[in-house]
Amino acid sequence: MPFFPFIYYLCIVKKQTNNNCRTKNLHSRHIMFPKEIYINRRQKLSKALDGGFLLFIGNRNAAFNYPSNEYAFRQDSTFLYLFGIDEPDFAAVIADGETTIYADDVTMDDIIWMGPQKSVADKAAEAGISHTKRRNDIATDVAKAIRSGRAVHFIPPYRGETIIELSELTGIPTANVKQSYSAELVKALVALRSQKEPCEIEELERHQTIGYNMHVTAMKMAAEGRTEKEIHAAIDYQSMLGGGSVAFPTICSVSGQTLHNHTYNNILRNGQMLLVDAGSDSPLHYATDHTRTTPVGGRFTQKQKEIYQIVLNANNAVADNSKPGVRYLDMHLLAARTIADGLISLGIMKGTAEEAVSRGAHALFFPHGIGHMMGLDVHDMENYNEDLVGYDEKTKRSSQFGLSSLRLGRELKPGFVVTDEPGIYFIPELIDKWQAEGLFKDIINYDILKQYRSFGGIRLEDDLLVTDSGCRILGKRIPITIEEVEALH
Ligand code: GLY
Ligand code: MN
Repeated sequence: MPFFPFIYYLCIVKKQTNNNCRTKNLHSRHIMFPKEIYINRRQKLSKALDGGFLLFIGNRNAAFNYPSNEYAFRQDSTFLYLFGIDEPDFAAVIADGETTIYADDVTMDDIIWMGPQKSVADKAAEAGISHTKRRNDIATDVAKAIRSGRAVHFIPPYRGETIIELSELTGIPTANVKQSYSAELVKALVALRSQKEPCEIEELERHQTIGYNMHVTAMKMAAEGRTEKEIHAAIDYQSMLGGGSVAFPTICSVSGQTLHNHTYNNILRNGQMLLVDAGSDSPLHYATDHTRTTPVGGRFTQKQKEIYQIVLNANNAVADNSKPGVRYLDMHLLAARTIADGLISLGIMKGTAEEAVSRGAHALFFPHGIGHMMGLDVHDMENYNEDLVGYDEKTKRSSQFGLSSLRLGRELKPGFVVTDEPGIYFIPELIDKWQAEGLFKDIINYDILKQYRSFGGIRLEDDLLVTDSGCRILGKRIPITIEEVEALH
């Protein structure tokens, strides 16, 4: 299906509050799907919550260090999903089959600072909405709904100002707002957003090119004397070239055993490996999320090759077996058994992979989940409630160390987009703790493990689209086999 027509326009806003200039959404490019997409989504949601009063607060700009110096604006993903309007200070209500947008038109001061832009009515029309009101009118309308005994449904807020506004609108004390969200609304949104529409898959797939460029750039730069800082800058630059900021802070480190390492202070040395976990936020705010681990200088040592191949086997096993009806929990366990098998073959673990995994011993090396949903958010819908997104009546979250970090356990369905990201890490502090506590002495060969103490970590991550009969890797696969990675140098 062709992706166009899009509604492209430059949205340039600057607000002046009293005599204090406040920049708003500097030079953002506002792109939307055709309005029918949003109309259809809202109709489905209205149907699921028949008679409900659904309240949505879009994001505001967030001050960086003073009010007129702001972080790059990122709209709330639920707001983008339902209304497509990628600008601060909007709110919306869906009730009685009608959508109302609450926002204020820009003033002459705004135009002087930031240039002209479309009216609220025009922006709403592009999402198929004809009903708009002033931003403050939302208070009157919510109060009226509450007076008439209607339940006001909202999603869990994750920003302080949204919590305060919801508290003021509903009368719920700020401390109770987060847990007063509507599980009914969340479940309906999860049901809609989990299975990606063709237009979403196109956007996700289109942006994979940028993810590819980010990683291949970094892999080629992994050479003796280069710095993590310059490679980090080159990765983020590729994302910006693709029209978006990064989808999450880039991980670019020779200390890959730290799962989310956000420091960039090292100089690369031969013998090390560079782990890069990076993704880009597309112009329509759909994410990419990949991880590659490259030997500095482009040649794996024998030891690195052996561990790398085990991680790759786990990654491939998940891609080969993921399909509708399969629980992602079982794909996690498959990856865990593949890792345990490999470590047994190297003498680092003993016994059988089945026993090691059922008791949780493999989590010393693989302490995170195999993957998560991906879409408008890199961890899609994680602002709702992780268990309502990733688990259900049939699949409950485990409390076992490692497995408890699995964000998505339930059955896969066609249209799910998930990450496949196994890893093996040698975390000296965790090894020392387990050894001191005598944990799994019958499974872990702590003597042989000593040789891997400064090994670091390897993670390999692809993005999978679940199809009717199986799954496929989104986009062109970033070089991943040992031969492909070494051939980049
Ligand atoms: N790519 C970062 C994460 O999945 O947590
Ligand atoms: Mn990920």
